[in-house]
Amino acid sequence: MEKMDFERELNRRRDHVNEVIRSYLPAEEGFQKTLFEAVNYSMLAGGKRLRPLMIECTYEMFGGQGRLAEPFMAGMEMIHTHSLIHDDLPAMDNDEYRRGMKTTHIMYGEAIAILAGDALLSSGYAAAASAFSMSGSLEDTRGDREKRAVCCGAETGLRIARALRILALKSGMDGMIGGQSCDVEYDGRALSEGQLDFIYRYKTGALIEASLMIGAILAGAPEEDVAKLEAIGTDVGVAFQIRDDILDQVSTTGELGKPVGSDEKNHKTTYVTLHGLKEAERQVELLSGRAIDSFDTLSAQHPFLRELLKQLIKRTK
Ligand code: IPE
Ligand code: IPE
Ligand code: MG
Ligand code: MG
Ligand code: MG
Repeated sequence: MEKMDFERELNRRRDHVNEVIRSYLPAEEGFQKTLFEAVNYSMLAGGKRLRPLMIECTYEMFGGQGRLAEPFMAGMEMIHTHSLIHDDLPAMDNDEYRRGMKTTHIMYGEAIAILAGDALLSSGYAAAASAFSMSGSLEDTRGDREKRAVCCGAETGLRIARALRILALKSGMDGMIGGQSCDVEYDGRALSEGQLDFIYRYKTGALIEASLMIGAILAGAPEEDVAKLEAIGTDVGVAFQIRDDILDQVSTTGELGKPVGSDEKNHKTTYVTLHGLKEAERQVELLSGRAIDSFDTLSAQHPFLRELLKQLIKRTK
């Protein structure tokens, strides 16, 4: 795919993701107005929107029609943003910048930031569950939240239920939260290769695995492909986190939109501290290469998603 074409399509798709996300965010009014503001602040601060993009692409890839993936795209980004708000708290990484802006706890205080994270976690599942109220046709969706009747068919309902379960499992204690718990518990300790691999697979890999799987499941992809997408998500996720660790050392806060040197400050063992920058870069390429090779064996193709996964190797933010 030509570079210009890829960039243009990425921007178009990201605009669409942002539009979808906006439609699931609260109006800033009522007694909990401050909480709504903190939620909207963190959700609209920017962000690459990679996970919703992945959901949409695997949905299209396996022939998904209509807007059934949208509730999951919004829900996934809410759950991911929850993980970032909490990751930045003083009790965790204690960072002051995120997505080019002050972190939520710096803007709104710790209590509201904790609650904004909690709210996004719950509302993320609520957003995803609103897929049950869609027939998958183009006309019906969004609109008046209260009036959304359950109108999807039985087959679609089963797919939605399965996708919801994956979203919950991969974001919880056997997924992202499980990884984050080891990440903070092992702070300052020398880690074995196995421990570090576990942390990366869980804290970062799990939501990427879920994103690739959910779109495919909603579209009714063959089981074999769903299983392959999970493994591709693991490789992409681990590579993504190693790249994150590299950028934490070699980038700038201006470029990244979050503080560099956060890992050193928190005495983290990372792939870079264990093996050095050069070996870390090599590992990112190796894992990404393996992911693309497996992607090419899937029963359907998606040139844009393929390019997106490839581009992550050299991402600079
Ligand atoms: C940041 O994720 C946390 C990690 C898993 C490294 P992203 O790099 O996808 O963050 P945003 O959403 O673009 O801000
Ligand atoms: C955290 O990893 C990944 C999450 C699940 C939030 P990091 O702590 O390295 O993420 P950044 O660098 O703050 O985005
Ligand atoms: Mg962290
Ligand atoms: Mg962090
Ligand atoms: Mg980091």
